[in-house]
Amino acid sequence: MKKALLVTIVGAFILLQAPLVSSEEKVSSLRGDYGLDKPAKPIKKKKQKKSGDGIERNWKLQPPSIPHSVKKDRITLKGNTCLKCHAKANAEKEKAPSVSDSHFVTRDMKVLDKLSPRRYFCRQCHAPQADVKPLVENTFETNDIELNNLLMEKTK
Ligand code: HEC
Ligand code: HEC
Repeated sequence: MKKALLVTIVGAFILLQAPLVSSEEKVSSLRGDYGLDKPAKPIKKKKQKKSGDGIERNWKLQPPSIPHSVKKDRITLKGNTCLKCHAKANAEKEKAPSVSDSHFVTRDMKVLDKLSPRRYFCRQCHAPQADVKPLVENTFETNDIELNNLLMEKTK
């Protein structure tokens, strides 16, 4: 008897929940008001922020943002076109800033005479920017100048 009552209660509970789950409630997300089973509108490409003087960093050891087009650049296992201009050997000729000394240090703090493998995939850290309204407010302020100086000393 007790078991039957329990089954009834659980059954009623499941039935009550069912309409909630199956109703087509719209979720509003960055993707827009489209059901998950429907294709969303493609996002408009944003105009890239470009600058011949570079883009200001927010803290000293920030990987600087990329201030120029990278449409034609390719980073693959066979080659890295960024290095055509940014490798130490080519930078002066190409009037580009050379990768800094930190890019020659391995994670074990060994200094190599070629680019450290962990710095090969440039766009893992360096990104182009667009002049758009931030999605969320950001009140970041740097307070790590001393720490930065220390790190700079270590990687010199
Ligand atoms: C044709 C040469 C060339 C190529 C290829 C190139 N760059 Fe540059 N890059 C420059 C020059 C020149 C600057 C200096 C700013 C300017 O004139 O746009 C620069 C600036 C930068 C900066 C800003 C440095 C700073 O201190 O502000 C970053 C980061 C950067 N490039 C990353 C890259 C990455 C990553 C790639 C590959 C995806 C790449 N670049 C490919 C020439 C190049
Ligand atoms: C793991 C992250 C990381 C990767 C990968 C990386 N960088 Fe950087 N890069 C940084 C950081 C952090 C800085 C700023 C601090 C410094 O100079 O070490 C920087 C600085 C630079 C600068 C400015 C140098 C200067 O003297 O101001 C250039 C140019 C640059 N990187 C180019 C590249 C290129 C080209 C690649 C790929 C071959 C690359 N980076 C890969 C993190 C990275």
